[in-house]
Amino acid sequence: LTATAAALAMTVSAGTATAACDDGEIVVKFSHVTNTDKHPKGIAAALLEKRVNEEMDGKMCMEVYPNSTLYDDNKVLEAMLQGDVQLAAPSLSKFEQFTKQFRLFDLPFLFNDIKAVDSFQSSETGQAMLDSMQKRGLQGLAYWHNGMKQMSANKPLIEPSDANGLKFRVQSSDVLVAQMDAIGGSPQKMAFSEVYGALQQGVVDGQENTWSNIYGKKFFEVQDGTTETNHGVIDYLLVTNIDWLESLDSDVRDQFLAIVDEVTNARNAESTAVNAAAKEAVIKAGGVVRQLTPEQRAKWVETMKPVWEQFKGDVGQENIDAAQAANG
Ligand code: LMR
Repeated sequence: LTATAAALAMTVSAGTATAACDDGEIVVKFSHVTNTDKHPKGIAAALLEKRVNEEMDGKMCMEVYPNSTLYDDNKVLEAMLQGDVQLAAPSLSKFEQFTKQFRLFDLPFLFNDIKAVDSFQSSETGQAMLDSMQKRGLQGLAYWHNGMKQMSANKPLIEPSDANGLKFRVQSSDVLVAQMDAIGGSPQKMAFSEVYGALQQGVVDGQENTWSNIYGKKFFEVQDGTTETNHGVIDYLLVTNIDWLESLDSDVRDQFLAIVDEVTNARNAESTAVNAAAKEAVIKAGGVVRQLTPEQRAKWVETMKPVWEQFKGDVGQENIDAAQAANG
């Protein structure tokens, strides 16, 4: 693929794969669910695609499919095991069928910020988790950051009791179900691609997500407002099929993994800024953003934190301790 052909492909195809692969190149299909603009994952995926296609021209060719155009997150890992897609970056909340270890990241109010998440992930425990699904055929390559979650609904959310009786969309994670139960909400697992329509039609009343997702999928347009709770985290596992990875010639694999590392480091350093820009974009577009007083926030903490106890057995008290220590 020449640079000109890549540029051309990029201009003509909006929202779907951007590269045209040549005969003999190893094709890497990367399926994800978010938008590409003002989004940590969207930007990182595009950069990875660009670098692989420029630097590995003739050997490897990457095609990124954003916006759930190829698979939803509940289908993509199965598709990966079938060999239909080689790369994905589902949120850590979406691996429940493969490992219970990532439940740690969903515990509400465990991490103060992405810096703490990064520090835990960089630890020996965090790095070992990348290998936790090898027996199931999946290899984690890197953690990709998104950011802290905020709560939105079709009415103002100031006290946890404001959530009483509201239906909330959650990712496919039992921890998040328990968290919404704790505030008296009624949780519903749902694919990301269905959230906007479900909020618009009143199938659910509210949701939790990062600023980049609230902006990117325009959730704020169909909600009363968003409360800046920073109560949890959405981060991703860049993941591949272990057999596919091992099938690559070692020089090709090494070059590919080196590019993955560089893209990870470069884009993870920017994730907080990307979410801050998305929050500003929400406000600029007329979205209502509410802040909590320290007293109000303490009530959310008090109401949600008992969830930790329920999942201590799955995630391990020592990992909870290590995660808390990462808050500094
Ligand atoms: C969600 O389903 O809300 C998120 O995991 C989507 C994403 O990939 O950020």
